[in-house]
Amino acid sequence: MNAILWMQSPKGDISYLQKFFLMYVGGRLPLHLQEDFCGTALLSVEWLHSDARRTAVGLDLDAEALNWCMENNMNKIGADVNSRISLFHGNVLQPLECRLVNLDPHEIIENIKIDDEGESKTSSLNSTIQGSPKAVCQTKLMKDTKLPARDIVCAFNYSCCCLHSRKELVLYFKHALNALSTKGGIFVMDLYGGSSSECELRMQRRFPNFTYTWEQAEFDIIQRKTRISLHFNLHKQHKKIRHAFSYSWRLWSLPEIKESLEEAGFRSVHFWIRNMPDSEEIRCMDGFPVGRDLKYEEVTSFQQQDSWNAYIVGVA
Ligand SMILES: C[S@@+](CC[C@H](N)C(=O)[O-])C[C@H]1O[C@@H](n2cnc3c(N)ncnc32)[C@H](O)[C@@H]1O
Repeated sequence: MNAILWMQSPKGDISYLQKFFLMYVGGRLPLHLQEDFCGTALLSVEWLHSDARRTAVGLDLDAEALNWCMENNMNKIGADVNSRISLFHGNVLQPLECRLVNLDPHEIIENIKIDDEGESKTSSLNSTIQGSPKAVCQTKLMKDTKLPARDIVCAFNYSCCCLHSRKELVLYFKHALNALSTKGGIFVMDLYGGSSSECELRMQRRFPNFTYTWEQAEFDIIQRKTRISLHFNLHKQHKKIRHAFSYSWRLWSLPEIKESLEEAGFRSVHFWIRNMPDSEEIRCMDGFPVGRDLKYEEVTSFQQQDSWNAYIVGVA
């Protein structure tokens, strides 16, 4: 199964997001992104990198991951980015009640870099905040925050599998649709599947500095649920981190997603799929597998394989 691609590939995701937007909406460039289930918001940060007009909204239940993003990613990419990204802590099922996370303004002031002429650099595009200012959760809610209507809302790394009932899934899709611009927009999520995704499975990937293991517990066919755990072995530090991430997932089928998107009000739904290497071949391997660069293709029919990966696009 596609655990091999668990490791995020924000550049690849963004190029598909742009392609889908131009194909199904068109007429303008997508500038405003919402990354739901954003974790450390790596995709949002990459999105902001490529065009100074872009904005991003990130939303996640995990305050620690959001804080990590604020404290580590923000200062690397320049102070101006802080004004273009809004991270919210809370539940995707109640987005308007989510709370804004921000860098502590006192810490920003303390960490402003002063240039040779004695001028503060926080307003310049290339300025950086020095050190790691602390992130704080504000009392401001999303419903009280002025945000541009989103061109694209996305939910990657199989995050919709964190929602376990159809009722929750449809409710979430309704919120995604509400966030999209009335001028047109898309919702994009990913999903994996194949015969190898419905059984116990353990796969290792070895990189020069670390090895990581994807462990898939037994698959319950009544609830269509499994538990996914990711373990890391850091070679230099001689450190093993078991269960670095662990999720209880419901593995949705493609028609369930399509019907739920339609029920939520999306006008059309499109599937883009690529075949993945057989799990038997990649149980233990070095680096990225052959076929990692295989392209996704739009399909209306696809025969079951050992392993596949899909983007699903809902057009508002
Ligand atoms: C599979 S991880 C993906 C994280 C991130 N997109 C990435 O690629 O690293 C799922 C994320 O969804 C978050 N999450 C799960 N249920 C959620 C919910 N109901 N509302 C908001 N975030 C949720 C978790 O905290 C976790 O960060």
